[in-house]
Amino acid sequence: MAIEPLIVGAPFGNYLVREGVTSTAGTFTWEHRAGVLKRIWRVMRTVRYNRRQQAWINKLGLPNPGLRSVRESMAERIVSLHGFTEHEWQSLIDYAARMEPAPLAIELNISCPNVSKVVTDEVLVACRAALAHQDRFLTIAKLPPVRWLELAAPLYDMGIRWFHCCNTIPTPGGGVSGKPLKNYSLWAVGDLRDRFGDDVHLIGGGGVSCTADLDDFLSAGADHIAVASLLLNPLRWPQINRFRDHLRARLPQQTDRLAPASAGPPGN
Ligand SMILES: Cc1cc2nc3c(=O)[nH]c(=O)nc-3n(C[C@H](O)[C@H](O)[C@H](O)COP(=O)(O)O)c2cc1C
Repeated sequence: MAIEPLIVGAPFGNYLVREGVTSTAGTFTWEHRAGVLKRIWRVMRTVRYNRRQQAWINKLGLPNPGLRSVRESMAERIVSLHGFTEHEWQSLIDYAARMEPAPLAIELNISCPNVSKVVTDEVLVACRAALAHQDRFLTIAKLPPVRWLELAAPLYDMGIRWFHCCNTIPTPGGGVSGKPLKNYSLWAVGDLRDRFGDDVHLIGGGGVSCTADLDDFLSAGADHIAVASLLLNPLRWPQINRFRDHLRARLPQQTDRLAPASAGPPGN
């Protein structure tokens, strides 16, 4: 099983699963933070749309039932994780490595604007722990749309080879996604491609709402493209099939080239 060209970003991959598309479940924390009702309430209270900017802003703060509550198979999904401490990161990753079947990949959410700043020691612990299990799953680092190279460079040196650009823009009002994020993400994808060449696998995402956006990310150097806040509107879910077919036509060889087993050392 390989990561498909089209990815449904967290948390939408908890709900939307389609053939030929890789969904991202989570973000899961170690402790239970919210059940279904609290999650719905948090969405209603903290998620807003700005029509003029075509932007979503959220202050959700990772409401989720905790990784240990996962019962479904994650064999075809990316599992997004966030630890608040080194100990939590270690626990999350060790637990993910014991899941049967193993997740297709884990995504280290080291860029959520609503819960913490990037704490380098914790991030390094998370990456080291994840790379110790590279026989079980691929490891993706999800980067913020600011100072991405400062974070990516040490992770690359450790062996991380998959990067997702980018998470939401951190602002005092919450994390901003949608169109305002797109140019930052394109910039980050291009920067990482220039810096690391074909040695890295890049997931680009931010403000994708039509096939022209997919093309922009491919031109910037992305191998995969993630869609997220567009899916806050269920009426737009059918577009996912169109995006998948568009990427399949543009990237016919992608699925084979990026199979986990072919990722190779160092890291993954
Ligand atoms: C309501 C909402 C909740 C989100 N929750 C998460 C999350 O739990 N984990 C995560 O890594 N990203 C989360 N994101 C960020 C998205 O996965 C995505 O990276 C970001 O929104 C940019 O893509 P977009 O412009 O297509 O939405 C969330 C975004 C939104 C709008």
